[in-house]
Amino acid sequence: MIIENEAGVTPAVLATMSSADDARLRVIMDALVRHAHAFAREVALTEPEFELGIDFLNRIGQATNDSHNEAILFSDAIGFSTLVCLLNNGRNGATETASALLGPFWRMNSPRTENGGTLVRSPTPGPALFANCQIRDPAGLPLAGVEVDVWHSSPVGLYENQDESQADMNLRGKFITDDEGRFSFHSVKPAGYPVPVDGPVGDMLRAQNRPHFRPAHLHFLAFKQGFKTLVTQVFVDDDEHLEKDVVFGVTRALVGNYQRHDTGTSPASDITGPWYSLDYTFTMEPGEAKLPRPPIK
Ligand code: BEZ
Ligand code: FE
Repeated sequence: MIIENEAGVTPAVLATMSSADDARLRVIMDALVRHAHAFAREVALTEPEFELGIDFLNRIGQATNDSHNEAILFSDAIGFSTLVCLLNNGRNGATETASALLGPFWRMNSPRTENGGTLVRSPTPGPALFANCQIRDPAGLPLAGVEVDVWHSSPVGLYENQDESQADMNLRGKFITDDEGRFSFHSVKPAGYPVPVDGPVGDMLRAQNRPHFRPAHLHFLAFKQGFKTLVTQVFVDDDEHLEKDVVFGVTRALVGNYQRHDTGTSPASDITGPWYSLDYTFTMEPGEAKLPRPPIK
């Protein structure tokens, strides 16, 4: 097709894509091209800006490797991951959901840990945390036999895969809910941390004068046949970054009540000083049990 002028580009592209066999591919690519072209028109994109954008995309690919996923970080930092999460959970966005974005640090094969066991696999600073959780179905009935991955960063602000001083799989574990749908574990209270800013996403955040912290949280991934895999996070309620999450992951339902205990009996004899407890109930929606693609190895 010979392009007569600027206005003719969009219909020409849409026409060539319209014969794709896959109906969903047709819908997605049609909308993507229409919106991308409308975006270029709306901002009157200049050639240097176009080159910058292409360079940015290339750098995202170059910064991604087995232990770091810059593409997810970018999607997270522009709110896209949270948007997709909220569109696809809670009856397709109709109601509040217990889901949150996966983030770039979930690893497959976390060590199987007994209920009540610890996530701490090498010396890790920070106050002790004892978490008691339950998983229910939408009718409130307990769900037994749910496989639950838990992971979080160390209080120095790094996940074990980012930090050679931590043991492999430190602060990660896999639990199985008991007959009452419960699982529990011991760890250290998570702290807020900066997302990696040494790549193109860091350049974007600096150019936008944006804070680059996440409020402290625990990550959970709950898997059981017959139920939609629940990917979520539970945030620490007194965290200074709660209102300024760089990746927009905090919803009201996900702010946990991390209770501080200064006195009284702690659940383990070797704990000195204040410790924290968290009681939290998750609801899993009926649906397909499917694991996400791990962002790192
Ligand atoms: C995380 O919570 O692990 C995370 C999420 C998004 C970007 C960076 C880190
Ligand atoms: Fe995290």
